[in-house]
Amino acid sequence: MHKHHSALGLAAALRPDAPVTLVRPHAAERAARFFTQKFPGRVLYAVKANPSPDLLRVLWDGGVTHYDVASIVEVRLVRATLPEATLCFMHPVKSEEAIAEAYMVHGVRTFSLDTREELDKIVRATEGAEDLTLCVRLRVSSDHSKLSLAAKFGADPREAAPLLVAARQVADALGICFHVGSQAMSPQAYSNAMERVRTAIVEAGVTVDVVDVGGGFPSTYPGMEPPPLEAYFRTIHEAFESLPVSYSAELWCEPGRALSAEYASLLVRVERRRGDELYINDGAYGALFDAAHIGWRFPVSLVREGGSEAKPIDFSFYGPTCDDMDHMAGPFPLPADIAAGDYIEIGMLGAYGCAMRTKFNGFGSEETVEMNDEPMASLYAPMPAKVPARVVKL
Ligand SMILES: Cc1ncc(COP(=O)(O)O)c(C=O)c1O
Repeated sequence: MHKHHSALGLAAALRPDAPVTLVRPHAAERAARFFTQKFPGRVLYAVKANPSPDLLRVLWDGGVTHYDVASIVEVRLVRATLPEATLCFMHPVKSEEAIAEAYMVHGVRTFSLDTREELDKIVRATEGAEDLTLCVRLRVSSDHSKLSLAAKFGADPREAAPLLVAARQVADALGICFHVGSQAMSPQAYSNAMERVRTAIVEAGVTVDVVDVGGGFPSTYPGMEPPPLEAYFRTIHEAFESLPVSYSAELWCEPGRALSAEYASLLVRVERRRGDELYINDGAYGALFDAAHIGWRFPVSLVREGGSEAKPIDFSFYGPTCDDMDHMAGPFPLPADIAAGDYIEIGMLGAYGCAMRTKFNGFGSEETVEMNDEPMASLYAPMPAKVPARVVKL
C-alpha cells in the first residue's frame, strides 16, 4: 500500500482521477486501545462495519481478540486473517449450513438467537453440542439512536422468559444481548436497555453468564457530537453491577462504528459544478451510501494548494452514476469558489462507508493510500491545547 503524509500532498502529486480511500491505521489502533483499556468488560469488533483485513489486523494489534461476525463469509474472512481470534456469530437468523460450518470448521462456540426455531436450528446444526455460549437477543428501544435497529430482531418481553429457560437447558453459558441502534447519542440508551435485561432475568429465573450490550457506540459527525465515551462506559458498568447475574458473569460489547469510523476517509474530485451542486467521482453506490440514503452528514474539506479565502457556502453532491438517486443532500460547507478539478476530502467513512461500495455503472475504485496525519474528527485524539482568547502572548 502507498503511504502519504497528507491528502494535499497526495492530490498535488498524483492528481488521481478516481476516488482514493485514505486509511489511518494509527487512528483505528488508538480506538481499539481506548476500548480495550477503558470498557469495563470484553470488546468484540462488529466486522460488518468494515471488514477490511488490514483493519482487522490493526484492531488485533490494538488488543481486540474477539469478533462479532454476522455471516459465514465474515466467519471465513476473520478466521483466515486472524487464526487466533475468537469468533461470535451474533446474527439471530442464520442458515443451518452456516451454523454447522462455523461450529465444525471454524471453532465458533458463541451464537445469538431470538426465537425457539433458531435455538432448535443451533442444536441440530451443532449435533447437540455441549460447549455453546447462547445469547438471547432482546428487543430494546432505538429512541436515543440515529439509526434504528428495533424492528427486525429481538425477543419481546413476553417471549424472552421461555426462550431464556429453553436456552439455559442446552447452553454451557447463557447470555443476553441487545442492540440500542447505531450512533446512540445518549448513555441512557444503555441504562434503559439494561432495565429490560433485569426484567427478563427476573421473569425467567435463570442464571445468566454473559450480558452483551451490543454496538451503538457513537462516532462524531457534523451535527452529531456525542458525550464522551467514558460516560457510556460508566453508565453501562453501573447498570451491569446492579443486575441479578452470577458473580462471575461477563460484560461484553460489540462496537462497529466506534472502532472503524476514524480509520478511513475519501479523496474525491469535483468533475462539474452547477450552482451549489457539485458532481463528484464517488457517491450513493460507492462509499457515500449513508450520505445519500439516510442523509448522514460527513465532514468535508477542500484539498487545494494555497487553500481558499472564499467564504464557505452549503453544497450538495451528485455521484458519478447516471441515477438521480445518486445524490447527497448534505449540506456540505465548502469555499464558495470551489470548481471542477478541485479535490475534497470527505471524512469519517471508515464505518459503513468503504464496506458498502459497489462497482455500479463502472464507477468505484479500490485505490487505497495509508496516511499518517490525524483524521478530520476524532473521539480519541488528544485535544489541541486551547489558548484562552484574552491571554496576551509575549
Ligand atoms: C448484532 C450487532 N452488533 C453490533 C453491531 C455494530 O453496531 P454499531 O456499528 O452501531 O456499533 C451491529 C450493527 O448492525 C449489529 O447488528
